Amino acid sequence: MDRNLALEMVRITEAAAITSARLMGRGDRKAADQAAVDAMRRAFDSVPIRGTVVIGEGERDEAPMLYIGEKVGAGWTAIAGVELMPRVDIAVDPLEGTNLCATGQPDSIAVIALADDGKFLNAPDTYMNKLVVGPACRGAIDISRPPTWNLHAVAEAKRCRVEDLTVVILDRDRHTVLINEVRRAGARIRLISDGDVAPAVACTQPDSGVDLVMGIGGAPEGVLAAAAVRCMGGDMHGQLAFRSQDEQDRAYKMGIKDPDRVYKLEDLAQGHVMFAATGVTDGSLLRGVRFYGGGASTHSVVMRSKSGTVRFIEARHDFERKPASSGLRSSH
Ligand code: FBP
Repeated sequence: MDRNLALEMVRITEAAAITSARLMGRGDRKAADQAAVDAMRRAFDSVPIRGTVVIGEGERDEAPMLYIGEKVGAGWTAIAGVELMPRVDIAVDPLEGTNLCATGQPDSIAVIALADDGKFLNAPDTYMNKLVVGPACRGAIDISRPPTWNLHAVAEAKRCRVEDLTVVILDRDRHTVLINEVRRAGARIRLISDGDVAPAVACTQPDSGVDLVMGIGGAPEGVLAAAAVRCMGGDMHGQLAFRSQDEQDRAYKMGIKDPDRVYKLEDLAQGHVMFAATGVTDGSLLRGVRFYGGGASTHSVVMRSKSGTVRFIEARHDFERKPASSGLRSSH
């Protein structure tokens, strides 16, 4: 995977972020999501890859664009130079945290991750119990042990007290027991209404104010988070959490033979991995899109597991010179 692809990935997440940010606070999560999907799909056309979407907007019959199995990138239509364009698997969430964008809350982001062919877990559309920590805690966690055990393990790895730790947990009824246990252990908690990818990435960064992400969220989002954690040298465990027998049966057909399996970081995202995200709304990791007369600024992060380099990119987009990037309908 060529390192220049990293900038191409950022161009794509920027396009999705600008377009969906136009709809921030409008109360219409579907419209914001659709805007991000359209922009991301368009932006893929000029990228020199032969990409296959493995984590996307759903099955082909329910998602017209960026569906699982869709071929994206210039490599599939190019006549010359095809052999130079890498085959990659693509995981996307054009707008992660649709409600957050629709209500103007923090931590809505546009996300892409890339891996070599066949290296992402093809996560079914179900839930995943997740435990994510930063580089200092690599090897210290075990999702099959109780939360209190993990909090003590993380505190020891970080040479701090459990009381110093901040845990991000989705504010859901299903987490009542988890929240009570974390409170009893003495750790601080940040309850979030949506969007567990941004805090998972944040907890791999020094001084982000997030030490762990715990609890059940989307499985596809788990694979996206794993890509970022791989790049950063943090750690993550995941265990699928099916909502119904039907979900479990569908997962079985996709190759998930052991429903109780604990997925370690490398089971979720193997080999060389790339991760890019652009802030849609302001958040703990990234600033949201700012619009001003004639343009907008974006804030993105891009990282590669091969080098471990993490780049934050601030970009200014000039809509007068490039009207198509404005995210306004009239310029499409
Ligand atoms: P969107 O699909 O609206 O972007 O929601 C994302 C999300 O909040 C994820 O970050 C999280 O993993 C999952 O949904 C939680 O699912 P649920 O809302 O069903 O608890």
